[in-house]
Amino acid sequence: MEKYFLTSGEIYLDSAATSVKSVEMARKYAENLVKYGFNPMSSHISLGFMKESLDKSRERLLDYFNLSPLDFSVIYCSGATEALNVIIKGLFFSSGKRRIVTSELEHKAVLETVQYLETLGAEVVYVPHNDEGVIQTSAIDKMLNDDTLCVVLMHVNNETGEINDVEEVSALCSKYKVPFICDTTQSVGKEVINFSKFDAFVGSAHKFGAPFGTGFIIKRRTIHIEKIFHGGSQEASYRPGTHNLPGIMTMIECLEDGYKTPDTSFKNFIFSELGFKLEDRIGKNTSPLIYAFRVDDVDAFIQAHPRFIIGRGSACNSGLIQPSHVYSKLGYDRNVIRISF
Ligand SMILES: Cc1ncc(COP(=O)(O)O)c(C=O)c1O
Repeated sequence: MEKYFLTSGEIYLDSAATSVKSVEMARKYAENLVKYGFNPMSSHISLGFMKESLDKSRERLLDYFNLSPLDFSVIYCSGATEALNVIIKGLFFSSGKRRIVTSELEHKAVLETVQYLETLGAEVVYVPHNDEGVIQTSAIDKMLNDDTLCVVLMHVNNETGEINDVEEVSALCSKYKVPFICDTTQSVGKEVINFSKFDAFVGSAHKFGAPFGTGFIIKRRTIHIEKIFHGGSQEASYRPGTHNLPGIMTMIECLEDGYKTPDTSFKNFIFSELGFKLEDRIGKNTSPLIYAFRVDDVDAFIQAHPRFIIGRGSACNSGLIQPSHVYSKLGYDRNVIRISF
């Protein structure tokens, strides 16, 4: 529970944005910075353990997801935005196919990427969703054709917590032999699902309590992507640049250690302090870690609850407060509060 109770006395309820798992994890990271604070690609004999640890870390990561290194490979990178750019653009540039199937409720890391590809000739089509933010996955059946490059959909929505039926998406993609890229940023480390159903999925360490600046793509070996970065040979040149081994090692230790979820009494305490009823949340089939609620006036609500650090339904972009595109698409204005554990 320590991650929720800050030493300042505030209660932290914005883990879907970012969180530090524990003081213990921060200590581990400091140790790893000292232990692995060298270049893993160094040819110096005494640093051979760095390369070994890096190689072993891939096995450990795949093992965590119950995936075989014969079928899947790991590309380390800085987080989910980079991971999604590398995989989606990489796929587009390696294939003559043009149609990308996605939804309007995806994170900007997907939306802005596919909209950029549209300027280069991609055809982007959006799977419909209902007012509660449920993606109509069965509609995908009619959206796939011979020119379909991939389907890109998230598992857990970061704004509403809505869980998409990724098993159904995976079955449809397999039927039409279309790669399914799943944005699992809010699921990795938190949700128990069958990750082998995806052709590629992504993770971002700071979303499950590990240090910022580390993430990964896990992709099926049969999925070929073009390199979008140019530089050194790290990560088979898909993501050149000196490895952040301290971050990678701490991320894997953090995953293996498991995500600490809040107990029911703590959640009930939070909901009652903030005056929310579970049944009033936006979305119905939601993750037990993300809840969004409509309020009358978001600024007044935040002022009235100074002890709680909570997400709001808008973000400051270039000096302008703009409502989240997800809440806007669902017909809400900026008066939305997100609580995440
Ligand atoms: C679903 C989802 N995808 C992608 C991202 C981008 O992650 P990062 O900020 O680690 O690049 C986020 C971050 O909120 C997210 O929630």
